[in-house]
Amino acid sequence: MRGERTDRAGSSRAEGPRASSSSGTSNEPNAKCLRPRAKPEKRLLIMKTIFICIKGALGLAALAVAGCSSSGSPASQGAADSGADTEPQTLIHAADVPIDGLPAADTKGFDDGDGLFDLPFRPADGLGPLYVRTSCGACHDKAARGPGLVQKMAVVGADEVTASADQSLLAYGHTVRQGLAAGATTPIVPPIDPSVKITTRLGPPVLGRGYLEAIADAEIERVAAEQATRTDGIRGRINRVTYASQPNSDTSFHQHQPGDANLIGRFGLKARVVSLDDFTADAFQGDMGMTTPMRPSEPPNPDGLTDDLRAGVDLGLDHVNRVAFYLRRIAIPRRVGLTDQGRALFEQAECSVCHVPSLRTRKDYPIAVLADVDAPVFTDLLLHDLGPAIADGMTDGSALSTEWRTAPLIGLRFMKTFLHDGRASTLLDAVLAHEGSARASIDLFRALSDADRSALLAYVGAL
Ligand code: HEC
Ligand code: HEC
Repeated sequence: MRGERTDRAGSSRAEGPRASSSSGTSNEPNAKCLRPRAKPEKRLLIMKTIFICIKGALGLAALAVAGCSSSGSPASQGAADSGADTEPQTLIHAADVPIDGLPAADTKGFDDGDGLFDLPFRPADGLGPLYVRTSCGACHDKAARGPGLVQKMAVVGADEVTASADQSLLAYGHTVRQGLAAGATTPIVPPIDPSVKITTRLGPPVLGRGYLEAIADAEIERVAAEQATRTDGIRGRINRVTYASQPNSDTSFHQHQPGDANLIGRFGLKARVVSLDDFTADAFQGDMGMTTPMRPSEPPNPDGLTDDLRAGVDLGLDHVNRVAFYLRRIAIPRRVGLTDQGRALFEQAECSVCHVPSLRTRKDYPIAVLADVDAPVFTDLLLHDLGPAIADGMTDGSALSTEWRTAPLIGLRFMKTFLHDGRASTLLDAVLAHEGSARASIDLFRALSDADRSALLAYVGAL
């Protein structure tokens, strides 16, 4: 990544303005201006290509790159993993590679979107007036967690957990934004007030998120209904949300209109967004002040600026869709070294109740390799109350301060920190931080022998 990335630890996420005003396709920049510039990414892509074992894909079964087979004994690979037939065949040391079996043209589109994802914006492109970071990749490096992050602020009650009804102290929303561009002089910083709780959200991994988008609604509803009959307190719920963006005129993935309610939230740490294109538009707006036809207004800011150096909407819809194209096609990194014993312990300790190993995708999902398959996502996409210690004071749609979407256990071997704010530096710490509704499961985990606990954690670490 080049140039002007700021080193500010910042914030983002637009819970800010609802797209309403300027409609503007008129000011869409020439996409050419915003093609990825000379590229560290290129080098990365070349490295990826070198490492990729093309097994099933492209029918080149015979082509095996030296070293690929040394990555894990075939017997141990994915043996215990449901949906093994849909598992990516690519095993690499780079996390964000395309799903196997995509048409060749999609691989090109993937690289194009990958480049845009890592592209840093400049003030002349429409960055700001306030922003957190200048590229998606700054917070989702190689599509994994961080290093960039977002600071959130919330007014909480005396318990320091429950969100107060009155959030008016935070006139410019819940996100700290310290990057200044286009004449802005005043950042959004937390007010000095004991009732304001400040927390961190690291950019979560975006690996395998196409699978999450493809999961059938009925599957999520089924799992929620099953959990509702449990007697051990492990009970999640769907975050029903309202679509807040302008429509995407490419209707192949959804046809949501502003105000469409009762949709199943899937994306974001509290499952507040329904689709990947919407999340992309939201991130452009909230994290960078890059407006798009789906989210055409600048988030409110203390200087009262309503535009930046690029008049009107900063990026075309095409730009949003190209980035979403990439996000939808990032593989679930191939799992290496999963054991049947680890899988059995994962179920015995009831981790699998929330981290559901596999969910069925929609038959009509537009990406053929993701349609009607068992997606090995290790989440239920439901909100769970994990107790006060991990609460952030924030509400997101119907999600409460203590509630979080079950983290998909995808690509954990590429991560050095765990949980939404990276508070855990080991898997053991991550597990022990589960409280509340996960209590029964964590008690089972604690009751395991040392050897079994290690085997379980090794399994999770390989996911
Ligand atoms: C300043 C850091 C930052 C930047 C820049 C950023 N993100 Fe994120 N991203 C986050 C955080 C933090 C979350 C969790 C947000 C939430 O809980 O709502 C997130 C969540 C996501 C998710 C949802 C992942 C999931 O598991 O549900 C997607 C998809 C995503 N970002 C894509 C993007 C794209 C595309 C861009 C660029 C247009 C981008 N992000 C820019 C920090 C960032
Ligand atoms: C009640 C539902 C529930 C149960 C049961 C549960 N988890 Fe979780 N798990 C979650 C939620 C919700 C999160 C996200 C918390 C956060 O990000 O702060 C999470 C996060 C994690 C993470 C961090 C992932 C990441 O990307 O940072 C790991 C690792 C994990 N769980 C492993 C386990 C294991 C192992 C078990 C069984 C011993 C287990 N969980 C049981 C709901 C659950």
